[in-house]
Amino acid sequence: MRILVRETDYAVVNLDKLTYAGNLESLAEVDGSPKYHFERCDIIDAERVEQVFSTYSPVALLHLAAESHVDRSIDTPGDFIQTNLVGTFTLLQEARRYWSRLGERARRDFRFIHVSTDEVFGSLGATGAFTETTPYAPNSPYSASKAGSDHLVRAWHHTFGVPTIITNCSNNYGPFQFPEKLIPLMIQHGLAGRRLPVYGRGENVRDWLYVDDHARALLCVLERGTVGETYNVGGRSEQRNIDLVRDLCVLLDELAPDQGIGARESLIEFVADRPGHDMRYAIDSSKIERELEWRPHESWESGLRKTVEWYLANQSWCERVQSGAYRGERLGRGVAI
Ligand SMILES: NC(=O)c1ccc[n+]([C@@H]2O[C@H](COP(=O)([O-])OP(=O)(O)OC[C@H]3O[C@@H](n4cnc5c(N)ncnc54)[C@H](O)[C@@H]3O)[C@@H](O)[C@H]2O)c1
Repeated sequence: MRILVRETDYAVVNLDKLTYAGNLESLAEVDGSPKYHFERCDIIDAERVEQVFSTYSPVALLHLAAESHVDRSIDTPGDFIQTNLVGTFTLLQEARRYWSRLGERARRDFRFIHVSTDEVFGSLGATGAFTETTPYAPNSPYSASKAGSDHLVRAWHHTFGVPTIITNCSNNYGPFQFPEKLIPLMIQHGLAGRRLPVYGRGENVRDWLYVDDHARALLCVLERGTVGETYNVGGRSEQRNIDLVRDLCVLLDELAPDQGIGARESLIEFVADRPGHDMRYAIDSSKIERELEWRPHESWESGLRKTVEWYLANQSWCERVQSGAYRGERLGRGVAI
C-alpha cells in the first residue's frame, strides 16, 4: 500500500474489515493522500464489495485480505474458512460481475491478483524447493483454506475467463508486522526479557522474504504477469527457526543492550511443537526472476537489521496495535488497499 501510493501513479482503495490484525495507524503515512481511500468492508459481504466496485471502478484488484496465523487456524478454523474461502469466492463473483460489464479494452486490462502462500505445497524434506508445478498438499487449516482459495481463483479464470494471476510467497518479515508473528514476537519478548519460546527443537526451516520485496513482486506481477499463470515468490533465504532466533538475539544485544537481561540467547526455551508443524519450506522463484525480472533487494542480514531497528524505533506502535487502541479509529474517512 505504502509503495503503491508513494512510488506509482495508481490511486488505491484499501478494503479491509479491520480484524485484530488490521490497524489504520499502520497506514498513517498515506492517510491524507488524495490517491488513497479506505473502505471498511468484510470481503464476505457481497453487497458492500459490489458497492466498492461501483464507487471506484478499479483497474485491478489485489487480494491480500485473509486470516493468516497458523496457530489461530488450529484454535478457530471457522474464521479461516469464512474469510479465505467464502471471502475469496465473494470477491471472485463480484469481480466477475464487474469485469463482464466493462468495455473491451478495460476487460482486457483488468487483473485479479490473488496473493497466496508457499504453505499450500505442504512440507519438504532436507532438499528441493517448491516450483509452480509442485502438487498442493496443505497440512494446516490455514494452508488448506489458502489452497482452496487458489483453486477457486484458478477455476474462475478457466471457467469464466476472469483475468486472474496467483502468487505463492514464502514467509514475510519487516516493519508493521502484527506482533503475534515469529519475528516481531521474539523482538518484543527479547526486549522485555521474557522467555523466547521456540517450537520443538527449532529445526523447522522457512524461506524468509523482506516485505517490501514481496510488495514489489506483486507490482511486477500486476504490470507484467501473464494472465492465468502462477508465480512463486521467495527470498532464497532459508533459516532454521533456532538460527533465526539466535540472529535476533545477537542484534538485540547489539542494538538494545540491557545489563539486567544479559545475553538474550539465555532466554530461548524449547516448547511443545505445534500439531502438524511442517518441517521445511523453500521456494524456487526462478520463474518470476526470469520472466518478470524481479529480484529481492534485501539480504537476510540487511532485512533483519532493518526490521529490528524499526521495531526499536516504533515501540509505541506495537503497544497500541496490541491493545487494539487504533483498530477502527477514524472510520468512514475514505482511505483504502
Ligand atoms: N505474512 C506472510 O508471511 C505471508 C506469506 C505469504 C502470503 N501471505 C498472504 O498475504 C496476505 C496478507 O498477509 P498478512 O501477513 O499481511 O496478514 P495479516 O493477518 O497480518 O493481515 C490480514 C489483513 O486482512 C484483513 N482481513 C481479515 N479478514 C478480512 C475480511 N473478512 N474482510 C476484509 N479484510 C479482512 C485484516 O484486517 C488485516 O488487515 C494473506 O493473504 C496471506 O495469506 C502472507
